[in-house]
Amino acid sequence: MVFTRAEGIRVFDENGKGYIEGLAGLWCAGLGFSETRLIEAANRQFLELPYYHTFFGRAANVTARLADRVVDIAPEGLTRVFFACSGSEAIDTAIKMVWYYNNARGRPGKKKIISRRNAYHGVTVAGASLTRLPVNQEGFDLPIARFLQVECPHHYRFAKDGESEKAFSARLAAELEALILAEGPDTVAAFFAEPVQGAGGIIPPPRGYFDLIQPILKKYDILFVADEVICGFARTGNMFGSDTYGLKPDLMTMAKGLSAGYQPISAVALTEEVFGGIAELGDEKGSFGHGFTYGGHPVAAAVALEAQNLYHERDIVGHVRRVGAHFQNRLRDFADHDLVGEARGVGLLGALELVADKKTKAKFPPELALGQRILDLTQARGLLFRPAGDTLLFCPPLIVEEADIDEIFDIVGAALDEILRSKII
Ligand SMILES: Cc1ncc(COP(=O)(O)O)c(C=O)c1O
Repeated sequence: MVFTRAEGIRVFDENGKGYIEGLAGLWCAGLGFSETRLIEAANRQFLELPYYHTFFGRAANVTARLADRVVDIAPEGLTRVFFACSGSEAIDTAIKMVWYYNNARGRPGKKKIISRRNAYHGVTVAGASLTRLPVNQEGFDLPIARFLQVECPHHYRFAKDGESEKAFSARLAAELEALILAEGPDTVAAFFAEPVQGAGGIIPPPRGYFDLIQPILKKYDILFVADEVICGFARTGNMFGSDTYGLKPDLMTMAKGLSAGYQPISAVALTEEVFGGIAELGDEKGSFGHGFTYGGHPVAAAVALEAQNLYHERDIVGHVRRVGAHFQNRLRDFADHDLVGEARGVGLLGALELVADKKTKAKFPPELALGQRILDLTQARGLLFRPAGDTLLFCPPLIVEEADIDEIFDIVGAALDEILRSKII
């Protein structure tokens, strides 16, 4: 498909057909596709200072202002910000910072990094070593050494028969602690987690999960890195997923919603403690030898700053809470549908996991490509979303109204019913 223009929450293909972008592009265009304030902010910045970098103790004023703004809205304790250009770069930066910090603190053996099955943390060599989706690792000789995996926190798929959410969380926490002890706590540096697993299937944490995980990380002096690339900037009904789930990360990665997708920019926020270690070793070595030519690009920073102004002026968090309630109600109504095993989500994130048998949770044969077939049907009716296998993922622009949400789920309902009526399943 080739797209030529956009308006609000819709994109238009080269034949002029319009589609609601039910995934906000790639989980990022929260302010829709025609926000003139963002475009004007870019234009103004192009005229004032179209390029500068963030090396040698220098930066554009707008980049410094954005850093201050990120610190203002970030969870407590995150006081320093580093800019890059993509989520993957932010993740690789966070990994390198963790390693550098442990070297600074005289713990050169404490380097292993843990992530979770079905995690998505990008596709660079280290990021894809944290990402735990087979398609991003197989054939690439990944993961590289020192990357460890624990279980996905998806209760519907991975809980034992009759196991409550709390019991499931306790089992996963025990598994994490057992892995840390088996590897040796002195060798484990960090645990990376998306507050809600995104590309892996929109999987909100089960009850009690992070409350049990965080003390274990503290106990063994393991840094907690929250990957807010999808959850950040109001998506879950708070500014960050960390606010929604009570996370106290040592480092936090952001991208996508930072600039509402209009410019490539990402960030890592860190605590004074982690920053202090990095700064000390950096001074010893002459500088912190890491950074990107376009990191903190002034035009991207100006657009990101304006996006933050718009989120604030329009109380986008309040809006997501209001329309998110309707979104979750409409989504969860599908739990009774014959094809749906689980309807789950939070805020303006939602997934419908399709199953062949609701009782056994058996999946449809992959060759049926049911998720893709449903996308074909919704596409014909003017809705784009993302199928992950037979799980339908929805993450509409944050500016959707209730009528848009009704349109999205009316189209999804019509497509699911058409599949039921057809003889293909
Ligand atoms: C949670 C998460 N982390 C990292 C990334 C990587 O971001 P990028 O594609 O900008 O490299 C993504 C991308 O979808 C993501 O969802």
